[in-house]
Amino acid sequence: RNMSEVGKYSVFITRSDMPDIGVNLLKKECNVKLWEKPSPVPRAEFLKEVAGTNGIYCALTDKIDKELLDAAGPNLKVVATISVGYDHIDVQECKRRGIKIGYTPDVLTDATAELTLALLLSTSRRLPEAQREARTGGWVSWAPTWMTGPGLAGSTVGIVGFGRIGQAVARRVKAFNTSKILYYNRSEKPEAKETGAVKVSFDELLRDSDFVICCAALVSETKEIFNKSAFDKMKNTAVFINTSRGGTVDQDALIEALKTNNIRAAGLDVTTPEPLPLDSPLFKLKNCVILPHIGSATIEARNTMSELTANNILTALNGKDMPAELK
Ligand code: DGY
Repeated sequence: RNMSEVGKYSVFITRSDMPDIGVNLLKKECNVKLWEKPSPVPRAEFLKEVAGTNGIYCALTDKIDKELLDAAGPNLKVVATISVGYDHIDVQECKRRGIKIGYTPDVLTDATAELTLALLLSTSRRLPEAQREARTGGWVSWAPTWMTGPGLAGSTVGIVGFGRIGQAVARRVKAFNTSKILYYNRSEKPEAKETGAVKVSFDELLRDSDFVICCAALVSETKEIFNKSAFDKMKNTAVFINTSRGGTVDQDALIEALKTNNIRAAGLDVTTPEPLPLDSPLFKLKNCVILPHIGSATIEARNTMSELTANNILTALNGKDMPAELK
């Protein structure tokens, strides 16, 4: 059968390189239109392409706001994002219009927690810097104080945002024989029992932690929660890790804190903006490790995310319960 005559529903996918597994699921049942390039669809094209569509399969690089929803029009039933974060979607506006939202919780928790630990250890043990030294002749001999950094064993780790990913990070961190795990979260989490993590105020967490890890969703309460005052409250020896969203950090304040050794180091998988411009001062700092937003980038997680995104769309269009609806 001709794919373009398949189903009664139309779905727009915002880039050409979404994992096949989800795209193929949609193609079996819907008329699928893909943006032609393996890069985010430009805004003007996006506004044009969505006109009349029933479903949108998007990513965190696609802003779903009033203007976009207007451009799509009244046939739009579902927006599904291949991400657990949904700060790029105007949730209220979708609700108001009765448009369902799909996202991808759980399936990327392990991948993101693994990357968070990888970034933490890379930052504290200075792996990128050490690798550079080894390749460029800085490795003159074994040296007793060279390339040293703080260990996790015996340390206090503070996790800001104790949802699925924060808890998964706590479980992994515990295996490194940390002495204490603290968390800051709006609500108390019974799951904390499993790791012995203790709920504290934001200020206490900043004051007492050797490692501060941000796993909080970006919402109005967490916007730039890591500002100058927060970095001032951290230990001078603290290592800051962010695998949530760049928007939780006042980046200028972070740059200043790193430059002045007000904190020891930072590891960032997320920045403002993304991609981070090559002339960003962050790239010039030895005590900063930057990754290009790869938290969920295991092969398994990305395939499952793609499948879940497709199933969110198919179920929503067929009037069934979505496997991961944002309520
Ligand atoms: C998310 O899912 O929100 C991540 O940022 C990308 O996987």
